[in-house]
Amino acid sequence: MRLRQTTLNAVWNRKPYEVPNKNMPRAMVLYRGIFRIGIVFTVFIITLRWFILYKAPSESRPWEQNSIDPNYVEIVQKFVSKVLQQECIPSSVRKNMSVLFSGKYKPYILPFLTKDTILNDTIFQYFPPFGFNNLQHKLEEILSLFPDLPKNKVTVEPCKRCVVVGSGGILRGLELGHLLDQFDVIIRLNNAPVKDFSKDVGTRTTIRMSYPEGSPKIWDDFDPDVLFVAVIYKRVDFNWLKAMVTKEQLSLFDWIFFWQEVAGSIPIKPSQFRILNPEIVIQTAMDLLQLPPPRWKLWGQDQNVPTVGVIASIMATYLCDEVSLAGFGYDLSQPEAPLHYYESTRMDAMKSQTMHNVDTERQFLASLVKAGVIKDLTGGIHCTFCKMKTL
Ligand SMILES: *[C@@H]1O[C@H](CO)[C@@H](O)[C@H](O)[C@H]1NC(C)=O
Ligand SMILES: *[C@@H]1O[C@H](CO)[C@@H](O)[C@H](O)[C@H]1NC(C)=O
Repeated sequence: MRLRQTTLNAVWNRKPYEVPNKNMPRAMVLYRGIFRIGIVFTVFIITLRWFILYKAPSESRPWEQNSIDPNYVEIVQKFVSKVLQQECIPSSVRKNMSVLFSGKYKPYILPFLTKDTILNDTIFQYFPPFGFNNLQHKLEEILSLFPDLPKNKVTVEPCKRCVVVGSGGILRGLELGHLLDQFDVIIRLNNAPVKDFSKDVGTRTTIRMSYPEGSPKIWDDFDPDVLFVAVIYKRVDFNWLKAMVTKEQLSLFDWIFFWQEVAGSIPIKPSQFRILNPEIVIQTAMDLLQLPPPRWKLWGQDQNVPTVGVIASIMATYLCDEVSLAGFGYDLSQPEAPLHYYESTRMDAMKSQTMHNVDTERQFLASLVKAGVIKDLTGGIHCTFCKMKTL
């Protein structure tokens, strides 16, 4: 009892510097209050983000180098060599797409937005990634940071072959690197690395395409002319892109809106950044995959947002005359197989995602491969060479 009284006394008889100063301006007291509430709020948001983002990692079996049949490796390599040796026919992929999706595929979309792009107003009707609703000033601000691209450069473009290199674990051990490097345009996705995997995936990168959360934290594309193509999936992605172009820090406030850690910098020149034209996303989602039109939801996403992989494949039809895919396809019948060539996450991790419609995408890409419009170099979508003993 005595002790308690002493404690209470200690509290009541606080030293002068602990007592709120009567002479302290009210505004100051108010600012301090707001500052404290701000700190508590920030800590709360960070804790909440951590809880939402935390997932117990699921590890795949350790990768055994020898688990691939060398005969199969040879067949795949021969198939890719054959694709590279065939005559390249100018515009063939666009002509083929127009035939296969008659009336739906628009053969003349410009894949990237530049200062000079004349924007169709319909682009401002939809929210990202389908358009830039309410984001016209942000788009113009970013575009104004890009330097002028050389104009009137008359070049006779040779027939170009694109390969879109996906992240699939299927690439491991096939040793396609030296063959993939022979394509004219090599498109890589998100943070799929090159450095320690070049034997399987090659060394060159013409385009790296990603959204903020997917972008490499460590940049290992060394081609001096590599382009970074940003896919704007949400409003705050513009702020991130601006920070990347101007080499400034992303504000703490913006950082709260990302669902995963984002890259802090991308070491390329402003002239190497591009913004994907959202018309490509609309074309992919609504016209080709025939997913339901986008609608606004408070929490979560409809399954109507295509993956970067399928968007990049459609983008490639506008950039190149022929398109091949490598490292595409998830084999969900092998839950323990590695999902990606560069990490040990298991295939079954794919089941828990709700944003993308993986089955629809796979069927769509398979229909393109079966029709001979694009080639599947690694057979994960539709294998045209798997049944052959030799090629
Ligand atoms: C694709 O285009 C090429 C060249 O225009 C043509 O020879 C081929 O038959 C077309 N294939 C399909 C499936 O439309
Ligand atoms: C804008 O896009 C819509 C729908 O794709 C099209 O009907 C219209 O002609 C376009 N307008 C212009 C000016 O290109």
